[in-house]
Amino acid sequence: MTSQKREETGSMKKIILVDVNEIVVKLWKTYIPQAVPKYSNTLCIHHGKLESLMSSMKKSNTNHPGASYAVVSPGNSFGYLGGGFDLALYNYFGGKPFESWFRKQLGNRYHAIGSATVVDLKLCDEEATIRQRDGIRYIIHCPTVVAPVRPIYDQKNPVRTGIEPVFNAMWNALMHSPPDIDGLIIPGLCTGYAGVPSYISCKSMAFALRLYMCQDTISVELRNILTMFFLGYPYKPFYLDICKEECENLGLAFEKLKEYNVMTDSLEVILPSNLDQLKF
Ligand code: ADP
Ligand code: NA
Ligand code: NA
Repeated sequence: MTSQKREETGSMKKIILVDVNEIVVKLWKTYIPQAVPKYSNTLCIHHGKLESLMSSMKKSNTNHPGASYAVVSPGNSFGYLGGGFDLALYNYFGGKPFESWFRKQLGNRYHAIGSATVVDLKLCDEEATIRQRDGIRYIIHCPTVVAPVRPIYDQKNPVRTGIEPVFNAMWNALMHSPPDIDGLIIPGLCTGYAGVPSYISCKSMAFALRLYMCQDTISVELRNILTMFFLGYPYKPFYLDICKEECENLGLAFEKLKEYNVMTDSLEVILPSNLDQLKF
């Protein structure tokens, strides 16, 4: 889909995935084959630090002034910005005074894992933040740990402690992205302090993202059912018969999908394959 056409439909944002971890980047590319240069208007993957992404975006912003972005912070429940990707935000936006301002926007209170809070950087009058804000308008705070004391991941329960919290953080980030932005910048989620193995996190991020990207192609109800199957909650009273038909029409085997096992089955069996149907 051309960028002009996307403007008409309005809803879809450009997604920029960024991480310093080479393995995370490699797995994103594996699980999201749509992330190829051909579709770089919709989706791109940056291997490197947030700082290097920002300086390359600054250059393109000279060509396209006024573009505005939201960046996802896979933070902690208290909004401190002392480590991981948050530390990059801390340094970029002006250090301690910025952190204090940011925590104040979060009400200086506890935010549960699985929540999402949008912080508008335009409200900040810290000089360093204003100077460094560039195209970044919002931070979407999606806590992935209460505090970085221990990993959230338990290898005995990879779905409930890996796949599910990552999906929730990613889905929340996508659903809370403000309507007035051009794009969303997202690092690996739970791949740092939260301690979820990259192959688990990236698969779950990829599913959430690809499901989001085919929002114009599949019904909301089918999207719900695919989410249930992916997360391992195949609950019959929540299915609509019409969705079975839709599912088959998209080339997905509904009966098989009920037994979808996220640890062993590929994403291709639970997502529509026809790229042309995806509204890029
Ligand atoms: P979580 O608590 O969800 O694990 P972290 O912030 O600890 O979140 O890590 C998330 C991801 O951010 C990790 O994959 C890590 O490699 C990446 N990361 C950390 N610092 C940077 C940075 N400066 N630029 C880009 N990615 C970063
Ligand atoms: Na975190
Ligand atoms: Na973090």
